[in-house]
Amino acid sequence: NQNQLIDSFGRVHNNLRISVTDRCNIRCFYCMPSENVQFVHRSKILSFEEIIRFVRLVVPMGVNKIRLTGGEPLVRRQIPELVKMLSEIPGIDDIGITTNGILLPQYAQELYDAGLRRINISLDALNAKKFEEITRRDDFEKVIEGIQSAHAAGFDPVKINAVSIRNMSEEEIVPFGRLARETGAEIRFIEFMPLDADNQWEREKVLFAHEIQEILTQGIMPLVAEKQSDQSAPASNFVFEDGVGRIGFIASISNPFCMSCNRFRLTADGKLRNCLFSLEETDIRELFQSNASDEQIIEAIRNSIAAKKEGHEINTARFIQPDRPMYSIGG
Ligand code: GTP
Ligand code: 5AD
Ligand code: SF4
Repeated sequence: NQNQLIDSFGRVHNNLRISVTDRCNIRCFYCMPSENVQFVHRSKILSFEEIIRFVRLVVPMGVNKIRLTGGEPLVRRQIPELVKMLSEIPGIDDIGITTNGILLPQYAQELYDAGLRRINISLDALNAKKFEEITRRDDFEKVIEGIQSAHAAGFDPVKINAVSIRNMSEEEIVPFGRLARETGAEIRFIEFMPLDADNQWEREKVLFAHEIQEILTQGIMPLVAEKQSDQSAPASNFVFEDGVGRIGFIASISNPFCMSCNRFRLTADGKLRNCLFSLEETDIRELFQSNASDEQIIEAIRNSIAAKKEGHEINTARFIQPDRPMYSIGG
């Protein structure tokens, strides 16, 4: 495909992450400020029609994978409807969602029926008090119910994302390993990245993937690496050596996957970002509002991808944290 979105490092961008809202029903400290969260006014959020227009423009450029993110995507009204609209676009063969799970008892079946197959649920602790410490809300039981609803609706596998923080998450690791073994959910441990709102990130707080692996080995049994089926997937996947229980590591700090990155992002307010950590964005909503032609928008998208940097620079002194925290970029 001659039209592919290839950057100056030869990376092909087929994976679009769309944030549908910056609002959220919890307040994880590594993502949101504790109070006075500044949300985008509703009138500035892309409509479903605008999202669909954007997707229709990028499909001919080889985009076939979409993930809906937030904030919390399920607090946006009628998300199953958007899933359905996206799944009807020829060329889109993979739609996923990343959710905190709280609203899944209400939405899991509807999402499945709308054509969604891939669901990632964020849950950082299996201890209710620890959950509250991290999320500043006491919705632990709702997330557990949400995970059960996802299994019951037919999602298989259900992936669980557990951001892991030093001096906070160590005791959660073995229980998560057991959960993977008992329920078939795939647990992915994620290294803490500098995208929080209150500048709380420091390297000392990153609990590294190899340390988590060691805790699982000591507490349960050794893990065996699985063959990487998708080179651009962020997680390296493992299974316990008796074959029961799948574990992944998303080691964005200790083992960045930037060199095989295939992602770009559309924020809820219609800004195109070529990297999670990019300091520049392209205002797609502004182009829509000013009646730009499809050709003009396509050119803006191409220019954005062409300008993509080699990777994040978290491990260098040059690193500058983007001024948008995670909730505002989209996970
Ligand atoms: P699939 O591989 O499609 O299942 O999804 P995913 O793992 O890409 O998506 P998910 O939203 O579950 O993200 C899991 C973790 O990876 C989160 O902590 C994300 O912030 C992180 N992540 C997602 N995309 C990127 C990225 O482009 N760069 C980096 N460094 N981290 C990312
Ligand atoms: N570092 C690592 N992961 C993060 N997430 C949100 N903020 C951060 C951060 N600072 C995770 C969420 C969710 C996914 C979209 O991103 O927990 O699983
Ligand atoms: Fe891609 Fe940027 Fe994420 Fe690296 S940090 S994987 S380049 S989006």
